Amino acid sequence: MTTYTGPATGAPDGFLWGASTAAHQIEGGNVNTSHWEFEYADDTTVAEPSGDACDSYHRYPEDIALLAASGLRAYRFSIEWARIEPEKGVVSRAQLDHYRRMIDTCRDAGVEPVVTLHHFTVPRWQGRDGGWYADDVVDRFRRYTETATRILDDVEWVVTINEPNMMVNQTEAKIDTEQGVNFPGPSPHVARVIADAHHAATEVLRGFGGVKSGWTVANQVYQALPGSERKRDEWGYWREDFYLEQARNDDFIGVQSYLRTIIGPDGPVPFPDDVERTLTGWEYYPEALGHALRHTREVTGGVPMLVTENGMATADDARRIDYTTGALQGLASAVADGCDIRGYLHWSLLDNYEWGSYRPTFGLVHVDHDTFERTAKPSLGWLGDLARRNVLPA
Ligand code: NOJ
Repeated sequence: MTTYTGPATGAPDGFLWGASTAAHQIEGGNVNTSHWEFEYADDTTVAEPSGDACDSYHRYPEDIALLAASGLRAYRFSIEWARIEPEKGVVSRAQLDHYRRMIDTCRDAGVEPVVTLHHFTVPRWQGRDGGWYADDVVDRFRRYTETATRILDDVEWVVTINEPNMMVNQTEAKIDTEQGVNFPGPSPHVARVIADAHHAATEVLRGFGGVKSGWTVANQVYQALPGSERKRDEWGYWREDFYLEQARNDDFIGVQSYLRTIIGPDGPVPFPDDVERTLTGWEYYPEALGHALRHTREVTGGVPMLVTENGMATADDARRIDYTTGALQGLASAVADGCDIRGYLHWSLLDNYEWGSYRPTFGLVHVDHDTFERTAKPSLGWLGDLARRNVLPA
């Protein structure tokens, strides 16, 4: 087994060590979402559709067992609004039961479930009504959250909405394509709607009791070239900081970090050609996580943080381990500086559907997309060993 043998420091007590996934990326046959519709449209822009994904809708017991066997103790997954409410106002008891069984399977394996209510996809009916532009979307999301609470009674960690900031950019980009105008930048209007939906869901979860709720933000680690600090702050406000500010009264904030973005006088500056890139084309920059955590603390004023995603798309698992070592060193140094960090959930447990293609492989576990056979990569045992020892590379 590959283990970490370098300098280490104790992780905080009760630190949650785990891995993350999202329904549409792993379940397969997620036909009732607007994303599925988009993937199978004649004029789709995706390279390949999600299809059967990892067949985790059926194979989740195996996924959870693999995670637990490695020593990891938390599993973040999302429940699919489109399955739970296949038509407006119609609740599927069977699908709620399905997700309840996932929670029970986690519990039986000694794994803490971290449940995301919304991870990018909306039901087709919600898409037809205008998605996040629909007049009643906040109310619909509140009702969906109320429905979800039927299965959440012993769940401690709930994420309302995943990466609202990325979602707003994507929503705007789609409108842009339809109208044939230039990408107008993130929309404050949709940002506020999504924030209202989050606050409405938080209110429901608070009333329900016993749950820690928060949302997760994609941290871009905006770094200014000398003299471009003001541009960076302006650039980052509607793309990130607005969403972090919304979390100031939350129980926790989910930090999701992969890379950095360098801002010059006119906005983002392309990476130099000679930097190492991952399979998503992003710069290899494990230091991003430490910066993301510090920036999050600065904007949220010290709300407890949970790293809900961090990882690297690569075919070279040894490089994944290097990346994660660097990221965890950044986390350890943020802890030493007084950041309140409750856990680290790696993206991703499985080689899953990366919103358009299966090529960028983020998994700690390899998945054969013909046979669905799972094979743990060395990085899974490596991370599980740190979890068992509760230590961070220092
Ligand atoms: C963030 C998203 O939440 C997740 O769905 C995606 O696969 C990863 N980043 C990697 O791009």
